[in-house]
Amino acid sequence: MKQKQQAVRVFAPATVANVAVGYDILGFAIDQPGDEIIARWSESPGLKITKIKGTKKKLPLDPAQNTAGLGALELLKDLDKEHLGIDLEIYKKMPFGSGMGSSAASAAAGVMAVNELLGRPLQKRELAKYAVIGESAADGAIHGDNVIPSLLGGIILIRDNATYDFVKLPVIRGLSVFLIYPEIEILTKDARAVLSESVSLSQLIGQTGNIASFVASLYTSDLELMKRSLDDQVIEPQRSKLIPHFYDLKQIAMEQGAMNYTISGAGPSMFGFAQNTLIAENAANAIRSYLSSKKINSQHYISPVNTTGAYKM
Ligand code: HSE
Repeated sequence: MKQKQQAVRVFAPATVANVAVGYDILGFAIDQPGDEIIARWSESPGLKITKIKGTKKKLPLDPAQNTAGLGALELLKDLDKEHLGIDLEIYKKMPFGSGMGSSAASAAAGVMAVNELLGRPLQKRELAKYAVIGESAADGAIHGDNVIPSLLGGIILIRDNATYDFVKLPVIRGLSVFLIYPEIEILTKDARAVLSESVSLSQLIGQTGNIASFVASLYTSDLELMKRSLDDQVIEPQRSKLIPHFYDLKQIAMEQGAMNYTISGAGPSMFGFAQNTLIAENAANAIRSYLSSKKINSQHYISPVNTTGAYKM
C-alpha cells in the first residue's frame, strides 16, 4: 500500500497577466520568483493557516479570507473531506501589489498542496476552478489570468472567466521575458477602479484585431506579427498614469530592441518580450538605471515563459 505523505511542499510561480492586449483573459508564468506552501496533516479537524512568512503585510489567517485557503476549502468541500485536519504554512517570496500575481501564486500553491497531500484525487487542470475561487479572496473578482498560468504554466487564454473555460496556447521557443518591478505599490482594486466602463467601437476593433493576431503569431511563431500585435489601446493609456515615467521607460525598452513594453497585470511591474536574453538584460538594466536616476528602487527578473507552472518540490 502507498505510504500516506506527512507533508508536501509546493512552489507556484509569478505571472504576467493581461499580456498587453488580453485584459483579464491572457496571462503567462515566469520561472521566478514564486510562493511556496507546505501542507501537512494535523490532529485537529479542519483547514488551518498556521504560518505566513515573508511579508510585512498582515494577511488573514482565516482560510476563507486568504487566497491560499479559500480555494483549498472549496476543494475539500467538493471532495467531501472538510473534516480532515490540514495545516498550511505560506512562504511569500514576492511583494504584494506588485503586478506579478502574488496572491494568485499563493492560491495556485494552496490548492495544489492540498490536492497533493490528499494523494492527488484531481488532475492539475481540474484544480484551475479552485485556484480561481481562491484568488477571488484578494479582490473579490473572478479572473484567472494570473492564477491559471501560475498553476499550469504556459500562456493561457481564457475564453470565459465565469465558467473557467480556457486554452493553453503554444509558446515560441527562445522568447525571453524581462520583468521590472519598481518598488511602489499599486493595489489591484485601485488599478481596476481607474478604468472606464466603456470602450469605443474603434478601440474594440483595434484591440480584437491585436489579440487575435497575437494568438495567431504564437501558432505560426511569427515574431514580427507578435510585435505588431502587442499594442494595448485600451488599458495602458488609462493605467500608465499610475506608474511614474511610464512612457520614458517604454521608449528606453524599445530603443534596446524589446518587442514590446507594457504594464504587467495591474502594475506597477512592467514587462517586455525580447528575442534573446541579451536584449532582455540590456533593456532591464537601462530601465533600472533610469528608475534609479529618479530615486525609484527596482528589481528585475529575466525568464523564458515558464511552461511547468506549480510543482511539488
Ligand atoms: N487582469 C487583472 C487586472 C490582473 O489587470 O486588473 C490583476 O490581478
